[in-house]
Amino acid sequence: MVLTTISAVLFLVVFLADLFGFHTNPYIGIIFFLVLPGLFVIGLALIPIGTWVERRRRAAGRAPSAAHWPRIDLNDPAHRRTAVAIFALTMVNIVIVSLASYRGIEYMDSVQFCGQVCHTVMQPEFVAHQQGAHAPVKCVECHEERGATSFAKAKMAGTRRLVAVVANSYPRPIRPSGDEHVAAREACGHCHSPGEFHGDRSRRIVEYANDEKNTETATTLKVHVGGGDGRGNAVGIHWHANSGTVVEFVAAEADQQTIPYVRATGRDGVVREFYAEKVTPEAVQGSRHRMDCLDCHNRPSHQIASTPERAVDAAIAAGAIPKTLPFIRRESVAVLKATYASQDEASQEISRMLGNFYQAGRQASAAEVSQAIRGVQDIARRNVFPAMNVGFGTYLSNIGHTDSNGCFRCHDDSHTAKDGKKIGQDCELCHSIE
Ligand code: HEC
Ligand code: HEC
Ligand code: HEC
Ligand code: HEC
Ligand code: HEC
Repeated sequence: MVLTTISAVLFLVVFLADLFGFHTNPYIGIIFFLVLPGLFVIGLALIPIGTWVERRRRAAGRAPSAAHWPRIDLNDPAHRRTAVAIFALTMVNIVIVSLASYRGIEYMDSVQFCGQVCHTVMQPEFVAHQQGAHAPVKCVECHEERGATSFAKAKMAGTRRLVAVVANSYPRPIRPSGDEHVAAREACGHCHSPGEFHGDRSRRIVEYANDEKNTETATTLKVHVGGGDGRGNAVGIHWHANSGTVVEFVAAEADQQTIPYVRATGRDGVVREFYAEKVTPEAVQGSRHRMDCLDCHNRPSHQIASTPERAVDAAIAAGAIPKTLPFIRRESVAVLKATYASQDEASQEISRMLGNFYQAGRQASAAEVSQAIRGVQDIARRNVFPAMNVGFGTYLSNIGHTDSNGCFRCHDDSHTAKDGKKIGQDCELCHSIE
């Protein structure tokens, strides 16, 4: 009773505090929303167990015996008061247990719980998630299917991973593998629908040279994302993901990078089987997988830059690193290419090396140099996680074809069907280039 009472009072205090917005630390969250309610329930369970043990003790004659069950007489005011008190306390307990389960589940579904409790392990994914378009979308929206069974399954899988963290046996880096880790494939459809995109999407890709002036060149792509045809179907790139389109493929390896076989029903209604060069039908093994959003958007939430060059170019284009600083592109890329033992070391070394470079008699304003240092440190903080062996290029996106094979896993002009049709690589099929 003492355990139950203390944890109940603490829980209620914390619950109210939380309601008014005083809760910031993920570890405190575990104590407040999982451990305290746990103690409360253990306390509750101990009450009948205690009564039972006591009765056995008495029955065995080790304590003064109370041979009979108490006789309850509601005409007796003392009995009445006790009955009312027990009823009221039970109601309070029910309220506490429901509040605690509600808050506990909500807490276990929070970005803070998924992203920050096992700090080092989830840091790359958490940091990247915070930077992207999906920052307001909870991890569980993509990583857990809906419904109570899926919730239970996901939390069981989480418990196994907790064991791996405690035993220090988790892989570094973590690879998306096996069905548990794959984001819920239908999740995207809760918020996006392929038939509702609008025409071309304009992308301006800016690059800088390694010369003193950091000379800029820009490419503008009009990516044919595709617009709806008015019947919920997309034309253009999102054609693959229409509910009526069936593109299936077999991937040779677990990472889906080599695709020897594709089967698709074309717009003309003809089913075609495309084989990669030198692949015979007998050589294709493994099950067919129907193409969906994740086969292109495999990094919708955790974009870690593929190369230091890309990250630096994006930062210069965004003004985070001043373009006017001589050789800043070359120098930033050089410091980011070095290997570091920890994020702290990376931060210090970036500051030291860039500082030294611009001190050596070059004309550079101190304010610009420190802005550049901050910009490059920020790139390292978002892309380099030595504790998890995660860095530039660890996780490649399948959108595009310059950093990974991406679209060219199929669109390589060599996947050929019996009637001679190929999955085309014509540059204008997917985008126009200006
Ligand atoms: C918009 C959807 C989305 C959100 C939100 C999201 N993820 Fe992911 N996550 C994915 C996808 C997609 C993959 C890659 C799955 C694949 O390739 O099979 C992935 C992969 C992962 C992986 C495997 C390692 C890796 O980097 O590939 C981890 C760990 C992970 N996510 C954790 C998280 C955490 C923690 C959060 C919240 C802070 C989160 N995710 C939020 C979609 C999402
Ligand atoms: C809970 C809702 C939700 C879910 C689930 C969701 N998204 Fe999004 N998505 C958004 C929002 C909100 C944006 C931001 C729109 C904006 O900023 O214009 C977005 C933006 C995007 C963008 C454009 C972002 C960019 O960087 O250009 C892509 C691509 C995308 N989502 C793909 C996916 C994929 C793939 C999945 C499934 C793994 C998914 N989304 C799941 C809500 C969601
Ligand atoms: C064949 C590959 C492919 C498939 C499959 C695919 N997408 Fe895309 N999607 C793209 C490409 C390419 C872009 C343009 C990306 C860019 O320019 O950055 C894009 C853009 C988007 C955008 C941003 C649109 C805009 O106008 O800014 C969203 C949102 C999106 N996709 C969601 C989805 C969802 C949801 C699915 C599954 C129903 C899906 N995609 C399936 C390739 C694909
Ligand atoms: C798993 C294989 C596969 C991958 C990966 C793939 N495609 Fe396709 N794509 C196909 C097939 C098959 C067709 C239909 C070919 C045909 O019948 O002419 C197609 C057709 C297209 C079309 C024409 C659609 C239309 O309206 O007729 C576009 C555009 C396209 N793909 C863009 C992309 C882009 C962009 C990517 C990468 C983000 C990509 N594809 C990745 C298999 C793939
Ligand atoms: C199957 C579709 C497809 C075909 C065919 C294709 N591309 Fe692309 N390409 C893409 C997509 C998707 C992107 C990424 C757009 C983005 O990042 O938003 C891209 C990106 C690019 C980029 C920008 C790379 C960067 O630095 O980010 C260039 C340049 C480019 N393509 C050139 C070409 C040329 C040249 C051809 C003809 C040989 C070609 N593409 C054929 C889909 C295609």
